[in-house]
Amino acid sequence: MNELYNDVSEIMITKERLDEICAELGKRISSDYKGKQLMLVGVMKGGLIFLSDLLRKITIPVEFGTITASSYGKGTSSSGQVTILQDLDMDIAGKDVIIVEDLIDSGHTLRYLQEFLGLRNPNSVKICCMLDKPSRREKQVKVDYIGQEIPDKFVVGYGMDFEEKYRNLADVCVLKKEFYE
Ligand code: IMP
Ligand code: MG
Repeated sequence: MNELYNDVSEIMITKERLDEICAELGKRISSDYKGKQLMLVGVMKGGLIFLSDLLRKITIPVEFGTITASSYGKGTSSSGQVTILQDLDMDIAGKDVIIVEDLIDSGHTLRYLQEFLGLRNPNSVKICCMLDKPSRREKQVKVDYIGQEIPDKFVVGYGMDFEEKYRNLADVCVLKKEFYE
């Protein structure tokens, strides 16, 4: 274990389990989207690792793009105000889009992105999230593919950060409270 693990109180989901979850989701998506024009849209930066793992578990033709959104200030909860920092650079008209996100918390980000992309005449826009914190929801959002539900704890790793750090932890970990309280 590397030094990043000194800052965490718990390993919540191991990299082996994350890999299994990606395999299950990739299998479901490959079967659900057979014959369709599938495009994954990864939400940066948190969704980067999940996007890259999920892509390689999909066994049908697939395109991908990225979009960068921010609803966070510097703390550990959503501001509710979603901003597009960098837009998708691909045409999604007629495509079957799946938004790929690390975690759904309040739901503000995904609600906004689903509406935002929905305006560009895609055939469909669904959502795939590795993690779901249902107890924190403020906006109702239908998440079509969920990796795992988790309790209300602030997690880092597998793409997710605290003040831009810890994204490179391979497991999903709980950050020690002393860092943000
Ligand atoms: P929202 O509150 O559903 O809009 O979530 C917005 C984004 O906040 C998520 O996509 C994550 O990138 C980030 N986020 C929410 N909870 C956590 C967490 O526990 N750790 C790290 N990032 C989080
Ligand atoms: Mg995110």
